[in-house]
Amino acid sequence: MDFHVHMRIALLVLIFCVWVSAEVIGMNKNVSAPSIQRVVNIGALFTFNSTIGRSAKPALLAAIDDINSDSTILNDTKMNLILQDTDCNGFLGTIEAMQLMGKEVVAAIGPQSSGIAHVVSHVVNELHVPLLSFGATDPTLSALQYPYFLRTTISDNFQMYAIADLVLYFGWREVVAIFVDDDYGRNGISVLGDALAKKRAKISYKAAFTPGASASDINSLLVEVNMMESRVFVVHVNPDSGLAIFSSAESLGMMNTGYVWIATDWLPSLLDSSATIGHDRMDLIQGVIALRHHTPDSDMKTNFISRWKNLKNIETQNFNSYALYAYDSVWLLARALNIFFNEGGTVTFSDDPRMQDTNGSSLNLTSLRIFHQGSKLLQIISAMNFTGLSGQIQFDTEKNLIHPAFDVINIGGTGLRNLGYWSNYTGLSIAAPEILYTKPPNASTNNQHLYGVIWPGGSTTKPRGWVFPDNGRPLQIAVPYRVTYAEFVSKDNGPLGAKGYCIDVFEAAIQLLPYPVPHQYILYGDGRRNPSFSNLVNEVSQNKYDAAVGDVTITNK
Ligand SMILES: *[C@@H]1O[C@H](CO)[C@@H](O)[C@H](O)[C@H]1NC(C)=O
Ligand SMILES: *[C@@H]1O[C@H](CO)[C@@H](O)[C@H](O)[C@H]1NC(C)=O
Ligand SMILES: *[C@@H]1O[C@H](CO)[C@@H](O)[C@H](O)[C@H]1NC(C)=O
Ligand SMILES: *[C@@H]1O[C@H](CO)[C@@H](O)[C@H](O)[C@H]1NC(C)=O
Ligand SMILES: *[C@@H]1O[C@H](CO)[C@@H](O)[C@H](O)[C@H]1NC(C)=O
Ligand SMILES: *[C@@H]1O[C@H](CO)[C@@H](O)[C@H](O)[C@H]1NC(C)=O
Ligand SMILES: *[C@@H]1O[C@H](CO)[C@@H](O)[C@H](O)[C@H]1NC(C)=O
Ligand SMILES: *[C@@H]1O[C@H](CO)[C@@H](O)[C@H](O)[C@H]1NC(C)=O
Repeated sequence: MDFHVHMRIALLVLIFCVWVSAEVIGMNKNVSAPSIQRVVNIGALFTFNSTIGRSAKPALLAAIDDINSDSTILNDTKMNLILQDTDCNGFLGTIEAMQLMGKEVVAAIGPQSSGIAHVVSHVVNELHVPLLSFGATDPTLSALQYPYFLRTTISDNFQMYAIADLVLYFGWREVVAIFVDDDYGRNGISVLGDALAKKRAKISYKAAFTPGASASDINSLLVEVNMMESRVFVVHVNPDSGLAIFSSAESLGMMNTGYVWIATDWLPSLLDSSATIGHDRMDLIQGVIALRHHTPDSDMKTNFISRWKNLKNIETQNFNSYALYAYDSVWLLARALNIFFNEGGTVTFSDDPRMQDTNGSSLNLTSLRIFHQGSKLLQIISAMNFTGLSGQIQFDTEKNLIHPAFDVINIGGTGLRNLGYWSNYTGLSIAAPEILYTKPPNASTNNQHLYGVIWPGGSTTKPRGWVFPDNGRPLQIAVPYRVTYAEFVSKDNGPLGAKGYCIDVFEAAIQLLPYPVPHQYILYGDGRRNPSFSNLVNEVSQNKYDAAVGDVTITNK
C-alpha cells in the first residue's frame, strides 16, 4: 500500500489523521491480549447533523466499542469505523461517499439519503462491498437491482401498505399526498398509489414541494390542497423540515375538526429523538396519526435505553429507531465477519480495470478497488439470523428484514398514544406483532382493530374524510317554479329564493350533515305554467345543474 495515497485521502476528508490499512499489523505494539491480528475498515456514511444522524452516530460508535472489547467475537480483529459525513447535499454527498469507498472498506453502513443510496449502490456492486443501509427507506432501492444493497431497516413499501390499510379501515376513499419531491418522497408516494389502488382507493392529488421549500411555498401548496374534496392528508417528508407543514396547516385552520393527518415515520423519528418538544410544537400536531418502526420490547433494548445518556458523542437526550438499526447493522457485520474469518476469508483488494480509463483525470477513481471475497461476505450477511436491539435480524429472499411492522400512534396532549400496530402478517391489530407471529396469519378485513382515535380538534368522531370542494361554486340546485301545488315547491322572496315542503326536507337533511354544503336554488321555469319535469331531469343528467329538489319522480316509461 502506498502510504502517500492514504495520507492524501486522510487530509482530504480531515477526519482521520491515522490510517490503518487492512493488513497485518501487530508489530512492536503491545496490545492487550488477545493480540490483534488484523484491522478491518468499515465505512459509515450519513448526515451527522440530521434527525437520523444524531441518533445513529452514537449508536454506531457504541457498537464498535462493544464489539472491539468483546473477546467472544472477532477476538483477533479490530473493527475500524470510518465515519463520513454525507451532508444533506446530493452532489457533495456522492463525492464523499466515493472517497469513503476508496478506503478499502469491507462493508459500508448507510447512507440515510435515498438519492445517495442509489448512486452508492452502483459503486458497491462494482466493488463487491456489501452496503448495509439502516436509513434509506426508498422502496425502489432493491436487492434485485443492487445485489450488494441490504436494508437493515424497514422499506417504505410496507409503510405505504400500512397507510393503505389505515385508509381502508376508516372507510376513506381518497387521500391527498403531501411529500418532498426527491427519491425518498416520490418513490414512497408512488407505492402508496399502488397500495391504495389495490383497496379501490386512490390519491386524488399529489402535492409535492422541493426539498428546502420556503414557508410561503408550503403555505400556497396547502391553500391549494385545502380547496380539494379530500380531507385526508398523508405527509411523507423529511424529519428535519417536516414540522413546517404543520405550522402552515395550523395557521390555515387545517388542524381543526374534520381534517385527517397521517404522517409517515419521519414524525415519530423527530419526536422520539427530541428530549423535550416544546408545547407550542406539540400543539401543532394534535390529533395526527403516525407510523413508527416497530421494535419489540426486550431486555437488550431496555439496557440500551438506559445506557444512552452515558454514550460518547450524544447530542440529543433521546433517540429514534434509527439508533437501534444502526447499532444492529454493526453487529450484523461483526457476526458475519466472525464467520467469514473463521471460514478462512481474507481481506484483499485489487484495482478495478474498468477504473483505469480515468487515469490522469482529476477524479482519481483508481483508489476504488475491488474486494476479492466481497461476495462471500455478502452471502454470510444475508444468511445471518440473530436477535438485535431492533428485533430479529434475518433477511427474506428479497433481502428485506423479515417481519416488517409499525406502531400506529396518535398524538394527543403532550405525548404519543399507541393505537395499535400494523404488521405485514395480519394488518392492523391491538396485540403486538410478536404475539401474532406465533399464531396463524389472519389479515381478513373483520380482523382489523385499533383503539379509538382522538382526531384534530379533539373530536372522537371519525371524520368523513371529504367535503364538497370549496372552490367558490355552490351546488346548483334546480327547483321547479311551480304554479299549481306551490306548497311542494315554488318561488320565495326570502334569502333562499325557494320555499315549500320539498325545500324544508332538503334543508333539514343538509343540516344533519357534519360538514357544510354550499348550495344555491335556481328556479326552473317561467312561473306562468308548470315547467317540463322531463327537461329538468335531462338538464341535471347533462350537468347543467348539480341536482334538483322538488316533487320530482323518475319513472320507467
Ligand atoms: C509488552 O508488555 C509486557 C508487560 O506489560 C512486557 O513484559 C513486554 O516486554 C512488552 N512487549 C513489548 C514488545 O513492548
Ligand atoms: C445543523 O443544521 C442546522 C440546520 O438544519 C443548522 O442551523 C446548524 O447550525 C447545524 N449545526 C451544525 C453543527 O452544523
Ligand atoms: C479467539 O479466537 C481464536 C480462534 O477463533 C480462539 O482459538 C481463541 O480461543 C479465541 N480467544 C478468546 C479469548 O476467545
Ligand atoms: C496513467 O497515465 C500515465 C501517463 O498518461 C501512464 O504512463 C500510465 O501507465 C497510466 N497508468 C495506468 C494504470 O494506466
Ligand atoms: C491516483 O490514485 C492511485 C492509487 O490510489 C495513485 O497511484 C495515483 O498516483 C493517483 N493519481 C493521481 C493523479 O493523483
Ligand atoms: C432464526 O432464529 C430464530 C430464533 O432465534 C429461530 O426460531 C428460527 O428458526 C431461525 N431461522 C432460521 C431460518 O434459521
Ligand atoms: C408480506 O406479506 C406478503 C403477503 O402476505 C408476503 O408475500 C410477503 O412475503 C411478506 N413480506 C415480508 C417481508 O414478510
Ligand atoms: C380471522 O378473524 C376474524 C375476525 O376476528 C374471524 O371471524 C375469522 O374466522 C378469522 N379467520 C381465520 C382463518 O382464523
